[in-house]
Amino acid sequence: MPERVYVSDIAQYEGQEVTLKGWLYNKRSSGKLHFLQLRDGTGVIQCVIFKGEVSPETFRLADHLPQESSVIVTGTVRADARSPLGFELSVKNLAIEQIAQDYPITPKEHGIAFLLDHRHLWLRSSRQHALLRVRSEVIKACRDYFDGQGFTLLDAPIFTPAACEGTTTLFPVDYFGDTVYLTQSGQLYMEAGAMAFGKVYCFGPTFRAEKSKTRRHLTEFWMIEPEVAYCDLNGDMDLAEDFIEYVVQRVLTNRRAELVSLERDVSKLADVKKPFPRISYGEAIALLQGKGVEIHWGADFGGDEETLISEAFDRPVIIHRYPVENKAFYMKADPDDPRVALCMDVLGPEGYGEIIGGGQREDDLATLQEKIRAHNLPEQAFSWYLDLRRYGSVPHAGFGMGIERMVTWVCGLHHVREAIPFPRMLERVTP
Ligand code: 4AD
Ligand code: MG
Repeated sequence: MPERVYVSDIAQYEGQEVTLKGWLYNKRSSGKLHFLQLRDGTGVIQCVIFKGEVSPETFRLADHLPQESSVIVTGTVRADARSPLGFELSVKNLAIEQIAQDYPITPKEHGIAFLLDHRHLWLRSSRQHALLRVRSEVIKACRDYFDGQGFTLLDAPIFTPAACEGTTTLFPVDYFGDTVYLTQSGQLYMEAGAMAFGKVYCFGPTFRAEKSKTRRHLTEFWMIEPEVAYCDLNGDMDLAEDFIEYVVQRVLTNRRAELVSLERDVSKLADVKKPFPRISYGEAIALLQGKGVEIHWGADFGGDEETLISEAFDRPVIIHRYPVENKAFYMKADPDDPRVALCMDVLGPEGYGEIIGGGQREDDLATLQEKIRAHNLPEQAFSWYLDLRRYGSVPHAGFGMGIERMVTWVCGLHHVREAIPFPRMLERVTP
């Protein structure tokens, strides 16, 4: 029996007889020849069936084989300079696992709603395959970065008793007669972790009942959140910058072929090197005003403003010290200017907008209690969190990076919905 191999390993088998197991991606025929494009999840290879070299049944099987039928093909690996892979397979035998009738995604153009309805099948197409491989590499690079810097992975809970990022985007869940919420962020738990382990991170799904339809918002997204004890805002910005450079360069090295197939301008990613420009919120307002935007100190940035700011730079830009008004209760006010918080956002370049949000946390017990009251949050639900300020409080900081925002930028996508295998948005929870 020839060895079963994967397309990604095919170069090792030149001249040998092998068996491939996969699905029919595409087919074309001309009299005595069938050209089957076989995909096996690791790549696509052209399999050539020559009438004179196979049994009549085998040749006939291939005659009417529909797209996405599952097949097992045996043949000899031949070098072929014309193929993108560099190799093709001269087929000896073809066995059919299952015949796929009327596969709904055909090579013609489909609308986005149709494709999203068929997301479970759309994953098989080359573009989705490439960008989800990039996602997988982004996640691995994130994990490797923090693991390599001495961080401990500490998983945060999904059911939470209180809001971290404001009460307007909570998803309530009935919990044996009580109401709990799907987590918006693991941050508060990472603060507990930082006091126990020094440097921690969590990585998991987070939920926001975002009622706006934008190209940047999902209701379920994945976030990686580091938190560091004895760290201030500057240290936090240094960490975010080093982290982003590492992740982008890793993906560029390990997934260059996928990025090229997505027609991503990889030279733009190669430029993502430290140091990143750092501007204050006040400077960002001035920049916008200089571009003719009607905006005044105190206003929040929407997607359009973020796009304008990030387009002004050729690498990610860090905006720090936003007004405390619009910011979460846990942020520490700047002792030099209490109107602003010691927080920061990292905006991706090329108009991609916010990728990271974070900053230094309020570490004083009384100030934090006041903030919780001022934000009308239930103090009881935060009593455990306040313990962190009672028992050995220290300056600390961290941030959260949305994986899908990062993947959208790295792949150069228009919308965040393709950056996650099964997107959840305002009007979509299927498939
Ligand atoms: O800026 P956010 O809301 O910050 C926090 O949640 C902090 N507690 C994180 C921390 O300091 N540990 O969210 C952080 C990041 C954003 O920069 C963005 O990348 C992503 O999470 N994000 C979303 N991604 C997709 N869809 C949404 N609705 C998102 N909301 C936030
Ligand atoms: Mg934010």
